[in-house]
Amino acid sequence: MAYTSIEFSCSDGIARITFNRPKALNALNAALLDEFADALKKVSQDEAVRVLLVTGAGEKSFVAGADITEIAPLSPLGAKKFAQRGQTVIGQLQDLAVPVIAVVNGYALGGGCEVALACDFIYASEKAIFGLPEISLGVIPGFGGTQRLPRIVGESRAKEMILTGKHISATEALEIGLVNRMFPPDTLMEAAMETARMIASKGKASLCAAKQAVNQGLNVDLPTGMHIERDLFALCLASPDAKEGTAAFLEKRKPVFTGS
Ligand code: HXC
Repeated sequence: MAYTSIEFSCSDGIARITFNRPKALNALNAALLDEFADALKKVSQDEAVRVLLVTGAGEKSFVAGADITEIAPLSPLGAKKFAQRGQTVIGQLQDLAVPVIAVVNGYALGGGCEVALACDFIYASEKAIFGLPEISLGVIPGFGGTQRLPRIVGESRAKEMILTGKHISATEALEIGLVNRMFPPDTLMEAAMETARMIASKGKASLCAAKQAVNQGLNVDLPTGMHIERDLFALCLASPDAKEGTAAFLEKRKPVFTGS
């Protein structure tokens, strides 16, 4: 598929998806969701990818939400299908085997905030603005916001954001644990790249296992989570990268992971 509103790049194990639909502040219409799904498929099929960055073009907007011009005329059935489509694509983002960093350069509102919530963690520009403003449109979040936000920032802070629809600054987002780290706009991408390079230097099997253990563990009780963890630990230890990592430590040298 030729992308019109997404830029995709990949080098040194670091893939990048950039939303680029400036006329509508990168709002997610059906075509953009399809392009996003296609780019995610590319990431999942490329053995060389070890980490993904998701960002928006420019300094104004990450993604300003689902496209309101497309939502407004929908019938209830159409609305359900649109929400289902968004939930599926954003679910694919969350379920990517490799780690994903949201690099939030500007507005992350509604569906845009929901994209960021499905990433493994968020780095934000000092100018970033977060919010789930759907309530001000007479609707509610439909791409996972009511479910993921409370799991990240807690029930009461999530309800405050969802019920007021208010925008919050990057500083506030940092304070409530929605954002991991905040940077000046011009150093945001390099800071994210530095972390991405650190992640990409690790063994792929252990990266994927660590992410899987946390994600699956959050949906089950503690004993089941422990079970998942020890199975994945055992699987990792059998990988060539684990042989290399442990041998390198014992030989007092730096490991060279091959990603197997
Ligand atoms: C369609 C959008 C848009 C959106 C911005 N635009 N956000 N178009 N859908 N979500 C368009 C504007 O209409 C405008 O087009 C252009 O982008 C620039 O936006 P402005 O409003 O002129 O910019 P500014 O005054 O700087 O305000 C920025 C903003 C505001 C605060 C981000 O645009 C805004 O509030 N946008 C809507 C945010 C929102 O409510 N998101 C949630 C959507 S619902 P023109 O042609 O006039 O230049 C959602 C539900 C998800 O996400 C789940 C669905 C199932």
